[in-house]
Amino acid sequence: MTEPYLSIPLDDQAATTLRDSGLRPAIVDTADDATFDAWLSAEARGFHARQPSAASLAQQRELLRHRRTTGVYDDSIPSPVAPVGTVSSWPAPLTVPGPRAVESWLISAVTVAPTHRRRRIASALLPAELRTAAALGIPVAALTVSESTIYGRWGFGPSAFSSVWTIDTRRAGWVGPTTPGRLSFTTPAEFVETGRSLLARQNAARAGEVGLSDYLSDRTMTPLEGAPDADKYRLVRYDGPDGEPEGFVTYTITEDDSDFTNATLDVVALVATTAAANAALWRYVIEMDLVATVRAHTRGVDEPLPWLVRDIRGAKVTNVQDHLWTRILDVPAALEARAYETAGSIVLEVDDPLGFAAGRFRLEVGADGTARVQETTDGADVSLPVGALASVYLGAPSVAGLAAAGRIEGDALALDRLFRTAVPPRLSSWF
Ligand SMILES: CC(C)(COP(=O)(O)OP(=O)(O)OC[C@H]1O[C@@H](n2cnc3c(N)ncnc32)[C@H](O)[C@@H]1OP(=O)(O)O)[C@@H](O)C(=O)NCCC(=O)NCCS
Repeated sequence: MTEPYLSIPLDDQAATTLRDSGLRPAIVDTADDATFDAWLSAEARGFHARQPSAASLAQQRELLRHRRTTGVYDDSIPSPVAPVGTVSSWPAPLTVPGPRAVESWLISAVTVAPTHRRRRIASALLPAELRTAAALGIPVAALTVSESTIYGRWGFGPSAFSSVWTIDTRRAGWVGPTTPGRLSFTTPAEFVETGRSLLARQNAARAGEVGLSDYLSDRTMTPLEGAPDADKYRLVRYDGPDGEPEGFVTYTITEDDSDFTNATLDVVALVATTAAANAALWRYVIEMDLVATVRAHTRGVDEPLPWLVRDIRGAKVTNVQDHLWTRILDVPAALEARAYETAGSIVLEVDDPLGFAAGRFRLEVGADGTARVQETTDGADVSLPVGALASVYLGAPSVAGLAAAGRIEGDALALDRLFRTAVPPRLSSWF
């Protein structure tokens, strides 16, 4: 491994704090199988998952070596080989409005052993990740969260929401377009390269999506070792009329033993680079014989499904939740990275107790939608904490709510006009 981010040493401040608490933080040598296995097992335990099998550990070692992997060890316990704290991180492009891309620092695997909870281990690790990203010159950090109450304290804000759907197939019916392409079954073995490139194209075209590693791409097509229902995965591709691949759907079907017409289809992933592919793949799962219910998660909040079915109430959003959380570390670089849909100028006063993003900045957007951002001493039009800036950064319609909550002060309408985008951000994967 030669990537520079892998050789960055442990953050000094976190190391000192943790050592003062009798703990030993370390960057994990992911080439050392025993050490990495102990870390991977501790991470699984931290999320209350099964102990990974030997095959699963071997697969994870192979696929996750590229991450910067940190463990916190307590050498005073009888089995100190398993870390009591874990976190991993790596750089990846985040799509921002335009669509354009900004380099981001993705953070994952944040766990603290239940035996060591609330001893401020996470409080040492998270700011350390932010300092590491800032030292690398990366303007934005990002994560997906198990609970929405954890990360606001470190300046993260929810930046893209996702929806969960439950479709009553008989009631819904299809009134969407007839699509010109072709559907066919495929296998991960023959499709994986095509699938990866479709994911890359889809994700580069939509604010909120991130560039996926092979690990994150492949698990949309093929079950990882030990995945429940692994033998039920089905993979269907959609190719346009010219034969070019435009999308795929991966799904499982669970039968109802008492009624064969009552099966449930769970969409693992539905990936589309064109509207036709999106429609064709939805139609395919909704019209599946013997299936009464289709469930799909991590869809956008603007999913066109209600307009594609005969009875809107047959396709229900059963949950909308915060999904992508971002943390702005460098305001000029982050705000200049995205495009804006109207020209204008605004002065933002950003409050950031951790210091990275604090200051007053003038954002000037030209007629071509490109911004210039500079520190200024001019009076602020809008004041907001860095977490609120994250919530409006990718174009989500969050300004009015944040203003109503008193978290945006000043000319909220002007902020909304500049930052909001016609298409809301979406993140369709977990990391
Ligand atoms: C979330 C987790 C990593 C926190 O670790 P921790 O070392 O216990 O956290 P800390 O002691 O540093 O607590 C830091 C602050 O966060 C708060 N906090 C920690 N976990 C929280 C939670 N689950 N919900 C709400 N607040 C939480 C603490 O109360 C503390 O608040 P304060 O700063 O206002 O005093 C740990 O509880 C955990 O492993 N949970 C299960 C796995 C998980 O959900 N990980 C997050 C993945 S996105």
